[in-house]
Amino acid sequence: SAECFERGLLAGRHVLINAGPTREAIDPVRYISNHSSGKMGFALAEAAAEAGARVTLVAGPVNLPTPPRVERVDVITAVEMLAACEAALPADLFIGSAAVADYRPVTCAESKLKKEPGSDAGMTLELVRNPDILATLANHPQRPWCVGFAAETHDVLGYATDKLQRKNLELIIANDVSSTSIGFNSDDNAVTLIDRSLKPQALPQASKQKLARQIVAFIADKLNA
Ligand code: CTP
Ligand code: CA
Repeated sequence: SAECFERGLLAGRHVLINAGPTREAIDPVRYISNHSSGKMGFALAEAAAEAGARVTLVAGPVNLPTPPRVERVDVITAVEMLAACEAALPADLFIGSAAVADYRPVTCAESKLKKEPGSDAGMTLELVRNPDILATLANHPQRPWCVGFAAETHDVLGYATDKLQRKNLELIIANDVSSTSIGFNSDDNAVTLIDRSLKPQALPQASKQKLARQIVAFIADKLNA
């Protein structure tokens, strides 16, 4: 069951995980980002390594130590994160836990943007879409088994199921981020796993370490089936 974590479950496997936020520069001193701590992805990397996998962890800007026996690649932007993930292929399994910025400024100003003197005018920032890292890997010629996260504030299972199907994933991990006490930046989380059977399996609130082991055990089960 998802409860029983065993060492060696992922022996001989290469597991690729991305984690944390991305940061999209506006000018040399400013950026767009989000509150992702990277804790869930780092916990998954640690659990996968404990399960015997070779783990590559592509990390956005986070303040976390690298788990033992995990190979870490640091990146800043979504475009860099995609390149680092593609460079790490082939992998047996990809877990997309990163909170990838959906948009980036169309250009990064070469010098610090200044307000117009004597004016109180607002300003408009033009944004373009970032690549979808998960969808790109799920449609890659060297396609790994693909796991995504869906952080939602409402209609959580509906949107998660939609992402599973639209991005062509084996598994989506739905995360209700409407509660203030758990989720994005806390040490605890509660998630629901939805695989292609579309039968949701809830994992009740627990530490991100404990949940990571349950998720890794669940995935290893399917991968080894
Ligand atoms: N994701 C990704 N690249 C992006 C955006 C999202 O790889 N540019 C991945 C995330 O890492 C996550 C999954 O897609 O595993 C779902 O991310 P989420 O933000 O919930 O969904 P989006 O597809 O971006 O849709 P929206 O934000 O509009 O709900
Ligand atoms: Ca998004």
